[in-house]
Amino acid sequence: MKKIEAIIRPEVFPDVRRALALEGIDGLSVMEIAGCGRQEGRTGLFRGNAYEMEFSAKLKLEMVVEDHLVEPIIEAILEYATTGEVGDGKIFILPVDEAIRIRTKERGAIAVY
Ligand SMILES: Nc1ncnc2c1ncn2[C@@H]1O[C@H](COP(=O)(O)OP(=O)(O)OP(=O)(O)O)[C@@H](O)[C@H]1O
Ligand SMILES: [Mg+2]
Repeated sequence: MKKIEAIIRPEVFPDVRRALALEGIDGLSVMEIAGCGRQEGRTGLFRGNAYEMEFSAKLKLEMVVEDHLVEPIIEAILEYATTGEVGDGKIFILPVDEAIRIRTKERGAIAVY
């Protein structure tokens, strides 16, 4: 199993959500975050005065899936989250050791459906 963390623009979420549903993703966590990439968080200069550039509002999606679903999900996110402008976000893939559905005590891949 892998955890996919996708940081995306809030405005693309409806399309990304629909695409994930079509890939069979039901379980999903969504967080509102403030982030900075290469452009934000730097000291800028405005009329000779240094100022801190703002963080940007993003959404972070987290989903734990079986390995074979990782590539289709990456493709779906890339298709619907890309505007081509700076700030489109990032996707991170992490290993997951275990998943447990608390109600039934099921473990492993069955627990992530
Ligand atoms: N290395 C990182 N680790 C964790 N989060 C990151 C990292 N880089 C970017 N992010 C998150 O992703 C969001 C969007 O990043 P962004 O798309 O601006 O990346 P970038 O590297 O600056 O690429 P671009 O040049 O296309 O803007 C940031 O606001 C932040 O929340
Ligand atoms: Mg950026």
